[in-house]
Amino acid sequence: MIRPVIAVHRTAEEAEAAVTSVLIETIARKADAVLGLATGKTMIGIYHRLVRAHRHGGLPLARATTFNLDEYCDIAPDHPGAFRTYMRHHFFAKTNIDPSRIHFPAEGGEAAFERAIRIAGGIDLQLLGIGRNGHIGFNEPGSSLTSRTRKVHLTPMTREANAEDFGSLERTPTHAMTMGIATILDARRVILLATGAHKRHALADAVDGPVRAGNPASALQRHPNALIVCDSAAAAGIEV
Ligand code: GLP
Repeated sequence: MIRPVIAVHRTAEEAEAAVTSVLIETIARKADAVLGLATGKTMIGIYHRLVRAHRHGGLPLARATTFNLDEYCDIAPDHPGAFRTYMRHHFFAKTNIDPSRIHFPAEGGEAAFERAIRIAGGIDLQLLGIGRNGHIGFNEPGSSLTSRTRKVHLTPMTREANAEDFGSLERTPTHAMTMGIATILDARRVILLATGAHKRHALADAVDGPVRAGNPASALQRHPNALIVCDSAAAAGIEV
């Protein structure tokens, strides 16, 4: 069994700075890097730091290609709760990323999305968060480790966690498009950021428990180059 490297930082800010450094190094080494991007509250600090580095001239993004992990179904691309809106607001609009190099999974476009990743040469670095139930992207518990980009049904827990972006639970989408677990594991390097005590159980279960569909993040144990970065609150339940 391969074990992901786990880096525990005292604070969320220190963990965010560490993840940002890996992203900056990746782009510095390869200006046409292919980045797998994630959304969620955890990532806001990452994009803030990347934008700052970009503005200070140290981060060329014009030749980078991006593939976002997931997007809700049945909402307009400019809906305030859409991940496209999140990415535009926190990152894309504040950089010179070429819009034609930005990709999101879309209903009916699953095969084209997977093909676009292959044509780009594969993902160099995939950024991941983790849901309270261990989900990565929108691969909820029960997702097959061999799953590819597809439409998924969101669990009540995940919809509740994201309801504030939609005003109410009723208005929160029930379905989403997500990269599959196998799509994520194809990335040459994977880096998962978890901060806050509410991620404690999911994270401990992902690294100490067996690899199983019940905790999608446990799939990282199968990746030869996975790094888990967390703060001490999220790391509190880990034994290894
Ligand atoms: C969301 C996203 C995931 C994200 C996770 C945690 O629903 N689909 O990609 O990693 O849930 O989000 P947060 O960082 O807000 O806790």
